[in-house]
Amino acid sequence: MTQQARQIPITAIILDEDIYPRKGVDPRRVGIFAENIRDGFKFDPIEVEHAPGMPGKYRLLDGAHRWSACKSTGKEKVDAIIQEIDGIDPLLYAAKKAIGPRQLTEEEARDTARRAYEKNPGLTSVEIGKAIGRARRTVDNYIADLRAVNQMGMDIKIFCMNRLGIPQDRMAARLGMNQKTIHNHLVKMAVLPKLLNRDLSQGFTVTQVAQKHGWTDPMVWALALEGKEDQDRFKELGWGLRTWDQWDFNDCDKRFGDDWPGRIPAQLIAHLLFYFSSPDDLILDPMAGGGVTPDTCLALGRRCWAFDMMDQSNRPEIEPHTWTLSSNGHLAWPVSSKTKADFIIFDPPYFNKRADDYDEKSISGLSKNKYLEFLEAFFVLAKQHAKKTTRIAFINADWRDFQNTPASEEAGKGGILIDDYLDILKRAGWQRTHIIQAPMSAQRFSAVVVSAMQKKRILGVTSRYVIVLKQSG
Ligand SMILES: C[S@@+](CC[C@H](N)C(=O)[O-])C[C@H]1O[C@@H](n2cnc3c(N)ncnc32)[C@H](O)[C@@H]1O
Repeated sequence: MTQQARQIPITAIILDEDIYPRKGVDPRRVGIFAENIRDGFKFDPIEVEHAPGMPGKYRLLDGAHRWSACKSTGKEKVDAIIQEIDGIDPLLYAAKKAIGPRQLTEEEARDTARRAYEKNPGLTSVEIGKAIGRARRTVDNYIADLRAVNQMGMDIKIFCMNRLGIPQDRMAARLGMNQKTIHNHLVKMAVLPKLLNRDLSQGFTVTQVAQKHGWTDPMVWALALEGKEDQDRFKELGWGLRTWDQWDFNDCDKRFGDDWPGRIPAQLIAHLLFYFSSPDDLILDPMAGGGVTPDTCLALGRRCWAFDMMDQSNRPEIEPHTWTLSSNGHLAWPVSSKTKADFIIFDPPYFNKRADDYDEKSISGLSKNKYLEFLEAFFVLAKQHAKKTTRIAFINADWRDFQNTPASEEAGKGGILIDDYLDILKRAGWQRTHIIQAPMSAQRFSAVVVSAMQKKRILGVTSRYVIVLKQSG
């Protein structure tokens, strides 16, 4: 909505280069304006908007030369209209204003078009063209290379999400596109893997092929291992298959999942998939963090729906969702789809651990009672949205208040033990079939801490358990 002009202090106004379409302020024009001001000539008000994140400051949308001239003549205030341009790209708004009195130069028009498109690839050439005073075809030429890279990036995202079995309507919502565009991309993309498969068949490694084509390693693994048995996939990935229920992995396999607080090894997820799911099953990870579950699902040929409260642009396959327990104990399921998961892998933040690493709405910041209440509500809800045959794997550890307390003096009362989780799971209608030990690494403790613990006879915790459950009755 356009506002009335107001007198605004010149010092409260900034020229933000990010949204300035010209190469710079022309001192000759400023000089002419300054002379006119001294002669008592009155100009149209300049246009500004509230500067984002800078309370009390305004950034210029139109009138950089008039504003500079006022400054140079020692004026303290300038007539300005404060615009609200919600939803309009400020660079394009400024460009449109600039073409009135003096066309943008070729270089300025090209640069503005590219900057606007880089910031918002959803803009069409017509929209950009209208703002900078150039024809659609000219804009097409200005941004052809950027559009090609963006198109490729989009193809890869769509390919990955499609592989994981994310429905097209959710892909469209996540990528800010319409469903028809997604559908058209998918039809065209049937040929996309051909180039990569050719490179793989010529002996290039997965990492080389991934780098060459700008894919992620897990996506190239999905192609390289297509049609193979699970056991052969393990061999090619270099993961020894554990036959017993003690899964001790020295380190996280860096090829799968991002560096993330509380990251778990891909090998752990792979073993869960091997023992408790079949190829093409739908896996659900409600708190997917750095994406180790979807990455491992790509390599082992499973579909995967992953959610997390953190919205990560580099992980379009992890759909943003914050599980929030309402005051009446209600928890919402993130999707309306009738399709149900075959296997749920649930790796929540542990109670009271790493609370500072996660968002303030993370369940790790809840009180002990609220944390347990949340888990119970989640397990009840998971059952309502499960098939009869769906299993769940719950990854957690004893939380004992052992900090600074010798083992013999630990009361056990203040903690949350695996037994407590088992009670909750039972009440929610899940029956344990396996408890697998998957210890955490003790490397994170320094020698000084270890020595202090030993002196005080404090017994630390590295045990971590994967509890696998099916539905009872
Ligand atoms: C232990 S991490 C998961 C790590 C993941 N398995 C990995 O290896 O990268 C737990 C995740 O739960 C998410 N989280 C915590 N509270 C949440 C909530 N209320 N809703 C959605 N996500 C939540 C955090 O953002 C975090 O990414």
